[in-house]
Amino acid sequence: MSFHLKSFTSALDINRDELQELYDTARLLQPVARGERKTDILKGLVVASLFFEPSTRTRLSFESALGRLGGRYFTVTGTDMVSVSKGESYEDTARVVSGYSDLIILRTPAQDISQAFFQNATKPVINAGSGGDEHPTQALLDVFTAEQELKVRNKSLDGAHITLVGDLKYGRTAHSLMIMLRLYQNITFRVYAPAGLGLPDKIIKITEDAGHKIERIDEPNIKRAVANTDIIYATRLQKERLSDKDQIEAFSDAYRIDAGVLDTHAREDVIVMHPLPRDSRSGSNDLPIDSQDPRLAIFHQTDNGVPVRMSLICKIMGISDDDIEKSLSPFLACQTPNHSQKKKRE
Ligand code: NCD
Repeated sequence: MSFHLKSFTSALDINRDELQELYDTARLLQPVARGERKTDILKGLVVASLFFEPSTRTRLSFESALGRLGGRYFTVTGTDMVSVSKGESYEDTARVVSGYSDLIILRTPAQDISQAFFQNATKPVINAGSGGDEHPTQALLDVFTAEQELKVRNKSLDGAHITLVGDLKYGRTAHSLMIMLRLYQNITFRVYAPAGLGLPDKIIKITEDAGHKIERIDEPNIKRAVANTDIIYATRLQKERLSDKDQIEAFSDAYRIDAGVLDTHAREDVIVMHPLPRDSRSGSNDLPIDSQDPRLAIFHQTDNGVPVRMSLICKIMGISDDDIEKSLSPFLACQTPNHSQKKKRE
């Protein structure tokens, strides 16, 4: 086992061997994630799930992963009901929570809060989103999904063309994705962001140092952004992180990727990804495409969040694939008909 991580705070923490090992274990755990097999390999583990910022996918997929592996967790959402609202420092909270858990999963609205936790927790910490900076576990599932989708098209990430669209300044998923992709070769990134919302210098440097190419596309040129690319990775406008000087309410039509834009300008086999949530309010122009459109990989991303996060937890807790395999048994409760089967019978 080459996996050495005791915490996972940044996409920079992981190397290529560890990534492949983590994905192998995720594949081993797929049947557990789907509810086809069961295991209680994490029995006795107590996890603190601290989400000081809103979350649907990340928190629930982590908690689903823990539940399916037989672990327990307690959850904090927001900061109203914890003592930071009484003035407690995040340093103290980190130390206190470490005494109550074996592993901490943490989302915060600001990078410095996450850093305070990383430095003061005495138990492993997984970064589930640190302000506008990073979201490394999203990158794990995004790269996993991208590899899977490319493979069915007989392509690979090495040499791929990837277009990133939207708020690339505050979009932490795009940052971690690009950092993670430093582990691959010869990628061409096409970046298409509103003025003032381009990639941070740090991400550009990491990407260029890894030998990848970055092409910036100026507005309005959605056609160039989506033409002849393997993957389009769209992101939401991070309104909650915009400062007054950013002065942008929604993406203009120049950023609207809809079925018509794809039909007219993109390759037929293009893969469209988005970390979600997409902003469905009218005028947001945030990937308004029917969820059944076969070019969308967004629900493959969300589904993959469970096995990938299961794998990460097992790796950090030092559990081997052999132990996982020995622990697997059929999941009898799963033989009840699912909703769609029921409907057919009615
Ligand atoms: C993202 C996040 O929280 O950074 N969502 C997620 O975790 N899948 C993206 C976003 O909020 O725009």
